[in-house]
Amino acid sequence: MGYSIITSAHINQLISIVGNKYVLFDEESLDKYSHDETEDFKFYPEVVVLPRTPEEISAILKICNKENIPLTPRGAGTGLSGGALPINKGILLSMERFNEILEIDERNLQATVEPGVITQVFQEAVKQKGLFYPPDPASKGSCFLGGNIAENSGGPKAVKYGVTKDYVLNLEVVLPNGEIVWTGANVLKNSTGYNLTQLIVGSEGTLGVVTKAVFRLLPHPKFDLLMLVPFYSAAEACAAVADIFKAGVIPSGIEFMERDALVWGSNHLGDSSIAIPENIEAHLLIEVDGNDLDVLYKDCETINKVLENYNCDEILFADDAVQKDKLWKIRRVVGEAVKTKSIYKEEDTVVPRAELPVLLKGVKRIGKEYGFKSVCYGHAGDGNLHVNIIKDNMTDEAWNNELPKAIREIFKLCVDLKGTVSGEHGIGLVQKEYMDIPFNETMIKLQKDIKNLFDPNNILNPNKIFLK
Ligand code: LAC
Ligand code: ZN
Repeated sequence: MGYSIITSAHINQLISIVGNKYVLFDEESLDKYSHDETEDFKFYPEVVVLPRTPEEISAILKICNKENIPLTPRGAGTGLSGGALPINKGILLSMERFNEILEIDERNLQATVEPGVITQVFQEAVKQKGLFYPPDPASKGSCFLGGNIAENSGGPKAVKYGVTKDYVLNLEVVLPNGEIVWTGANVLKNSTGYNLTQLIVGSEGTLGVVTKAVFRLLPHPKFDLLMLVPFYSAAEACAAVADIFKAGVIPSGIEFMERDALVWGSNHLGDSSIAIPENIEAHLLIEVDGNDLDVLYKDCETINKVLENYNCDEILFADDAVQKDKLWKIRRVVGEAVKTKSIYKEEDTVVPRAELPVLLKGVKRIGKEYGFKSVCYGHAGDGNLHVNIIKDNMTDEAWNNELPKAIREIFKLCVDLKGTVSGEHGIGLVQKEYMDIPFNETMIKLQKDIKNLFDPNNILNPNKIFLK
């Protein structure tokens, strides 16, 4: 279906809603909002609008429905599946002015926030009150909570504390028809009707625009310990992960990095302080946290016992906050580092934790078959492996025509192992061609019917998640 082109009359209507200053259509602004962090895609919106209230968004969506104009909501633009790309042109709705923490409720351990608050800013604000908001995507220093809700983001702490969905209690949402609703209640238990709050979480800005979120919080753990474990075999590093849980420890982070991931991450930060012995194929970065330091040391002993069954080199214990921070920085920067090295594609594979060695082996076998190199890293405790496929000297023909077949094989393997095609980055634009792997036609139709029910005119972030 074709959409209307935005006219000067439309622009005037938008200006009358949000004000002159917040309707942008100069070249520089259109360029700034034409891309997120997904590969090197660029899609230019016709106009960028920066609203400040749900009522303004409501009025804008009403115009979109009436005039058949597509609208793409956007957080900070750190997404890795292209959810915020305005692929059908139209209006780009930036949520950056919704940037207030409205309330931190210390009595109930809850907070009410606007979606344009940066995740780390929120974490630090609640930490000052002794509270903890665990979801910590690698981009936490710049991503927005609203984007985290849209993609159901995870991060290293998910393995112990869960992902964004596990903290969302209630949402204020502007529906595509412009109605403003609350989806649930500010409670920890809720068996009242369908769980529309959780339907909105992870819906990638296709069912409504979130304008407020109520999160549950935890008391902040007092201590953490961190160690970096070098393995001679990457498969062994993956295999050790499930054994650590079996030994009775739930780490607050257990991250896998292939050799190149750690080397590229360190180099990207200009940090050469971590000596990586020769023949080391991979590392695990393992963190434990809690309120009793003795218990944490015992956890580390238990982990060490497990590791005795594997071929590891000398373990590096981070002995102060500076070193911990450095190790986490290196881990967080891996994605960015890969991006600067080569054209690449990132696949967000996820399988049950104990199947991780099979997944890694399969990725490497498929890589050999199709002639690509991959750098793998990610949230091993969640079985969530980021497979970065490097273009290097692959021909354009192989990259464009053969690689999708290889990716299909990788995703089929995930589903065979009872996993799926995205753990935390979403489907957005770039993975929609693979949705037939985890879902049969019935399941895809059910989801598209839901989209249609919310957005019969298909104006809100259209043509995402589903192929057509
Ligand atoms: C990470 C992002 C890419 O884990 O999800 O670094
Ligand atoms: Zn990740």
